[in-house]
Amino acid sequence: NLEFPAERPTQRLLVVANRLPVSATRKGDDWHLELSAGGLVSALLGVKQNFETRWIGWAGVNVPDELGQKTLTAALGQNGCVPVFLDDETVDQYYNGYCNNVLWPLFHYIGLPQEDRLAATRSLQSQFKAYKHANQKFSDAVYSQYQEGDVVWCHDYHLMYLPKWLKEKNSQMKVGWFLHTPFPSSEIYRTLPLRSELLKAVLTADLIGFHTYDYARHFVSACTRILGVEGTPEGVEDQGKLTRVAAFPIGIDPQRFIEALETDVVKSHIQELRARFAGRKVMLGVDRLDMIKGIPQKLLAFEKFLEENIEWRDKVIFVQIAVPTRTDVYEYQRLTSQVHEIVGRINGRFGTLTTVPIHHLDRSLAFHELCAVYAITDVALITSLRDGMNLVSYEYVACQNDKKGVLILSEFAGAAQSLGAGAILVNPWNVSDVAMSIEDALTMSESERKERHRHNFMHVTTHTAQAWADTFVSELNDTIVEAELRTLR
Ligand code: G6P
Repeated sequence: NLEFPAERPTQRLLVVANRLPVSATRKGDDWHLELSAGGLVSALLGVKQNFETRWIGWAGVNVPDELGQKTLTAALGQNGCVPVFLDDETVDQYYNGYCNNVLWPLFHYIGLPQEDRLAATRSLQSQFKAYKHANQKFSDAVYSQYQEGDVVWCHDYHLMYLPKWLKEKNSQMKVGWFLHTPFPSSEIYRTLPLRSELLKAVLTADLIGFHTYDYARHFVSACTRILGVEGTPEGVEDQGKLTRVAAFPIGIDPQRFIEALETDVVKSHIQELRARFAGRKVMLGVDRLDMIKGIPQKLLAFEKFLEENIEWRDKVIFVQIAVPTRTDVYEYQRLTSQVHEIVGRINGRFGTLTTVPIHHLDRSLAFHELCAVYAITDVALITSLRDGMNLVSYEYVACQNDKKGVLILSEFAGAAQSLGAGAILVNPWNVSDVAMSIEDALTMSESERKERHRHNFMHVTTHTAQAWADTFVSELNDTIVEAELRTLR
């Protein structure tokens, strides 16, 4: 049950994101739909009330034949989704290329691709052309769904050109754009060869949102330095047109997790896992297998912890769920081998005939399995090198009301700004620091764990995905009213 879309409409919300909340696989004449991974999907699934929502996004598979497109459109339509069909060449240049090999690493401070990541046949220019072309396809899909009064909410770095194409079609359309990754310091952003075009395109939106105040500040500063426009406390002003820029920290739907913990299926998984790991503390990492998640560094920290704390060697197990992602991009393939090599070495060094210290899975878990593993975990280890927000940390907190486990969290995740007082914050690059934090977490007193958890649980249950969406959309509505007032004056 995907629980999507909303059932009690008040305003129509067109959510546009590269990824639909469901991924489709063809089974003969039918389509099998499965929930997609990633923070954006996790948050937007929580936006169920208050809007009649349509989700417009890439189908995720190449469907060259008309019949296939028709049947998939019908299957997705039942889940409130509208597919955008992209051919293989566009996907390669736009999604694998410009989005995931250029913008994603740049926005996470990894920088632009070097020679080995950018073959001559895939120049930045041609990738950018494909990026604009793909954004145009999304804009056609939005336009085909649009009715007067709708609000259009564009998401993420894949769709920075979309506000511009939409406004060119209809300048009265209410368009918001939200970035789910960090926006980096202007010192990093200004290395991008086609830096101005992208900023100008985004600035055609009526409201621009980020997870943290720092990201918003970096964006405004990139605009002022690169475009020479004026930064104001409200946003960016250019020739009398104000584009509002602000921070809207995202959240999850905590009830979805809290209620799941009460179901028989999750309870029985919890029992199984407890029996399986009896006598040992459980540490957990849940990440997409992405270079920004710092999985190799985290494993090295765990190895150091085992080296230095002999007494813990057979008393702790580290479960790392590493969900495969963007597997056509070379960097991700290289990372997979690197992670496997480190896991193999550590398990070889510290394993015994009956057990190994790292339980590594190259796949996602079903929702009920995930809730159970969150619930039995003593320490969650989230050590992203950079992360827009990181909602796994929120999901863990939502499932810990019984156990009051400890969250070790990277100071470079957006979530550090909201869960910082309850978590142990670490610099993920400092392997010794993380190793020491693991020891602190495993030996923390119950009263301290309770106090830290209380803080985090309060935050996660009050700053929800629904509240995030309500605030953004209501501000988007107000922004338009202001714009219209200005025209009337
Ligand atoms: C991050 C991005 C999302 C993306 C997700 C999964 O959370 O902000 O836009 O959907 O990663 O990545 P994928 O490339 O599989 O969509």
